[in-house]
Amino acid sequence: MNLTMLNTTFENVFHTLPERAFFAPGRINLIGEHTDYNGGHVFPCAITYGTYAVARKREDQLVRVYSMNFAEKGIIEFNLNELEYDKHQNWANYPKGMIRYIIEAGYEIPSGFECVIQGNIPNGAGLSSSASIEVLTGVLVNGLFELELPRLNLIKLGKKVENEFIGVNSGVMDQFAIGMGLKDAGILLDCQNLKYEYAPIHLENHKILIMNTNKRRELADSKYNERRAECEEALAQLQLKLPIEALGQLSEEEFDTNQSLITNEIVRKRAKHAVYENIRTLKALNELKAGNVEAFGQLMNQSHISLRDDYEVTGVELDTLVEAAWNHPGVLGARMTGAGFGGCAIAIVANEEVERFIANVGAAYLDKIGYEADFYVASIGDGAKEIEMEEAL
Ligand code: GLA
Repeated sequence: MNLTMLNTTFENVFHTLPERAFFAPGRINLIGEHTDYNGGHVFPCAITYGTYAVARKREDQLVRVYSMNFAEKGIIEFNLNELEYDKHQNWANYPKGMIRYIIEAGYEIPSGFECVIQGNIPNGAGLSSSASIEVLTGVLVNGLFELELPRLNLIKLGKKVENEFIGVNSGVMDQFAIGMGLKDAGILLDCQNLKYEYAPIHLENHKILIMNTNKRRELADSKYNERRAECEEALAQLQLKLPIEALGQLSEEEFDTNQSLITNEIVRKRAKHAVYENIRTLKALNELKAGNVEAFGQLMNQSHISLRDDYEVTGVELDTLVEAAWNHPGVLGARMTGAGFGGCAIAIVANEEVERFIANVGAAYLDKIGYEADFYVASIGDGAKEIEMEEAL
């Protein structure tokens, strides 16, 4: 990506030049889905698609933001002294919420600023474009005003924006992956205590493909919160007997022995997914470390089946892509990634099959669903950071 377009736009829109540049990636999750808010493990990585910003401080208290992805919205403006959610301000609520919580956390933002942002993460595709903007705002404000905000605090504030400002009860995975990503590594994160380790991902003979269903998913948020509530109900019933704080603390055997404490059959299936998926994530990491990429792929497939049958967050679009991928030669594994209900799936595909894969899986999808899927090769990149203005010019 080259920042020339952002700089030119900045000059056109704000009639001055930007001073600093920042980047925050999107993310994919390799395995460990709907486990973060259950105190389990996730295994995401940052991707090289992301959101860029160029910015300059102002003398007054105004923040003026402009997104090249939503150019029709023009400049959106707010004051540092009035940081309330405003639905008319659309995407700008993400930076606004982030600024608000940074100030509430005790950091001083002495003046406003203006910025132009542009993202190349496919929009609304479940690759965390919103968390990318939150974390981007965090690194931008931190950099411009030298706040020395610890990265982990920044990540937690991003989650707070999603939970309290926007109203999606999501876990910490997205902001963590975006804030802590490392080139060519997955991050095994224990969401109960935020302990993490990097695991190198060297797939010389394979590519990670992102498959976008292009399904619009307005209902995603409410269903997401519904799943979360179901898991909380299961936990409360298990706690009648078991001294646990989260579903992620249970082994498969402990769950099987005690599952009858959960009275509702559907809620029991949701909890089963959360417990088994967490264990599956730990197994997957071990397989990867041992170089058993085939076994890793099998665990990805099992993850999708569990999300389809027990957690019920896939839907015909994701299932069509993933099942077509499973049936294709040269595929180690495939599964949905992120919240589900549409959005994206991933597949690990042999280098020499990539072109045929895109043609065949794309055709199967179009045939069944009636509109096209998009495919992108994912590269695993670094987390959010300041970037050089000159480098990009
Ligand atoms: C969304 C949320 C994450 C996580 C995933 C599902 O991406 O933002 O916190 O719960 O869904 O694994």
